[in-house]
Amino acid sequence: MALVLGIETSCDETAAAVVDESFHVYASVVESSIEQHQAFGGVVPELAGRAHVTTIAPVVRRALLDAGLDPAAPALSGVAVTSGPGLIGSLLVGLSTAKALALAWDVPYVGVNHLEGHLFAPLLEARDLEWPLMTLLVSGGHSLIVYQRGPGEHEVLGETIDDAAGEAYDKVARWLGLGYPGGPEIDRLAGEGSPNALKLPVSMIGDDYDLSFSGLKTAVVRATQAHQNVALADVAASFQAALAEQLLRKLRSSLEHYDVKGVALAGGVAANSALRAGVAQLASEFGLVAHLPTLAMCTDNAAMIAAAGVYRLGRGESSELNLSARPNWHLADVS
Ligand code: KG4
Ligand code: ZN
Repeated sequence: MALVLGIETSCDETAAAVVDESFHVYASVVESSIEQHQAFGGVVPELAGRAHVTTIAPVVRRALLDAGLDPAAPALSGVAVTSGPGLIGSLLVGLSTAKALALAWDVPYVGVNHLEGHLFAPLLEARDLEWPLMTLLVSGGHSLIVYQRGPGEHEVLGETIDDAAGEAYDKVARWLGLGYPGGPEIDRLAGEGSPNALKLPVSMIGDDYDLSFSGLKTAVVRATQAHQNVALADVAASFQAALAEQLLRKLRSSLEHYDVKGVALAGGVAANSALRAGVAQLASEFGLVAHLPTLAMCTDNAAMIAAAGVYRLGRGESSELNLSARPNWHLADVS
């Protein structure tokens, strides 16, 4: 049985997981330093990097023990680690750890693209998944529509030209005086408000699959300045409806043009109730399987990185010990 250790430290989560060659998850441990960042309204890179330094060793040890392995000499076939995109100081902690462990245990290691990792998350919960797949990948840092021919074979159809969906949520939440991260709180409030309370634009920026959220964010600021008495829940509901509408219209258009078997949500914003309902609705309309990962698989974790590693190591790929972290590594540049 080929077991791969995955390591993820691209942002504020320090994570390690053990996954086998048929994508069964033996262990998945996630520690977050989010509480250290909350007072600042966003992730502070230096604090995140320092937190990884102290947390990485115990997290890896916990994952190995949970998987029933000897942490001193685990029977692994390789190590997979996020080598980009992400915060450079944070990436370096995970990357250096993976190199050291691979060297000590005499196994290959491979640097994995974090976004490719997110694309593997649905596979961990539906191992009989049928391809091709259309995936809406929405997180705090990225928003893309990706056509996947098979595992590791992806074509980026469109992406955000400004803010990411999660970033738009976090910025609007900050404007409304809500805590960080803002997505979960806006989502909760939206359930209590009216989506028609504010008239907000659904930005479609042309007829391709690119996305844009900065206009919507500005419109929320203007509308709340013009209507000072509007209830917070109504602002949240109107904003969420306009954002989901854009994403779902673009996704619908991709489904009209590409022949796929399923449609998937991935990334932290995949926890959003409006998007989950909208994707389920689109799937039933087009006769497709909807892949809506559990919350633990939507947000950053190392099982998805290990899964991408299973695929890449399985193809005979491995990285050299001089591999650098790539803070701006685009999914479209992954070959
Ligand atoms: O994928 P993720 O855990 O980290 C990144 O790689 O960015 O995504 C975090 C993002 C945050 O911006 C957070 O506000 C957003 O996901 N988020 C949500 C919800 N839960 C988390 N956005 C909208 N609705 C939610 N329920
Ligand atoms: Zn992520």
